Amino acid sequence: MTEILSLPVVIKSQNNTESPMEQFARDVLTGLQADQKRLSSVYFYDERGSQIFEEICDLDEYYLTRKETEILKRSAHEIIGELPLDAHLVELGSGSSTKTRILLEAALARFEETLYSPIDISAEILTATAHDLNEAYPELQVEAVAGRYEFGLEHILRTEKTSSCIMWLGSSIGNLTREEAASFLGDIRKKGLKQDSLLLGIDLRKGATILEPAYDDASGVTADFNLNLLDRINSELEGEFKREQFRHKAIYNIEEGRIEMYLISDRDQEVFIKKLDTRIAFKQNEEILTEYSYKYSHEEIKTLAEASGFYLAKQWLDESGWFSLNLLQPKANALLKD
Ligand code: AVI
Repeated sequence: MTEILSLPVVIKSQNNTESPMEQFARDVLTGLQADQKRLSSVYFYDERGSQIFEEICDLDEYYLTRKETEILKRSAHEIIGELPLDAHLVELGSGSSTKTRILLEAALARFEETLYSPIDISAEILTATAHDLNEAYPELQVEAVAGRYEFGLEHILRTEKTSSCIMWLGSSIGNLTREEAASFLGDIRKKGLKQDSLLLGIDLRKGATILEPAYDDASGVTADFNLNLLDRINSELEGEFKREQFRHKAIYNIEEGRIEMYLISDRDQEVFIKKLDTRIAFKQNEEILTEYSYKYSHEEIKTLAEASGFYLAKQWLDESGWFSLNLLQPKANALLKD
């Protein structure tokens, strides 16, 4: 029997006294009262939403997971070979760490000691992941951290003495605007050691005929994922949305290089949300913006790296050139003063 070497450390924000439910309520209220209605894509991932997202990852149209796995299978040893020996592997939003296992196996083969720290908001998922990993790889050290990325990273990078590689896979960076992405990576650069690197999975710019079906699949799984946001408001805030009166839309905005997802009201209607004590009015065809998913060109990846104090040291692509894994190394002396 193997033992769980380390259970998740739950970290709480010190200056954020709002509960997750209060934050959800406040964001829904502000978002639905704005001129351009919007709901943040971070709220997709309740229990049901996370299950639907797993289904999305298996869809024929949603190539991202398949292509990233292809790169990892082909290049994991080379990627690990680029890191300092025994680098601490930190992963943001690890979920069940399925794809990461490919990298962990390569690290176990090369490193004398492999320490892996997944950071995820869900302590339940992390506990299950830590347990599964300890069973599959008894020699792997797992120190999971439950909490928001910022606080989890702060905790790890503050106490860290060796180099870390912070992995953020699945093109989750695409759900931030380009400015937010640069500022998030810049913060990591400032908090970490001068030799800490990043491994980022980033989806590449490509034609709308490939991108739009990936976000509007024929079997309606992504539509269900999007509409689940309304179900969540209904169950957590006692909302009265009728999901059949809204439809899913995903379009590729070529100038901005991003998929935009919306929920569209199919009629004039008012929706009461009891816990917010508010009635929201919708016009026919009025849109709620629910997600941006940015796509990057090679140049844009280089610009992102530079803007946050890193440089693009190495890049791996899948055979079709649709998806990229990017190793960002710190630029000498960048951002060290502020
Ligand atoms: C999690 N994230 C990277 C996904 C994406 O592709 O932007 C979320 C998603 N939205 C619709 N399908 C998948």
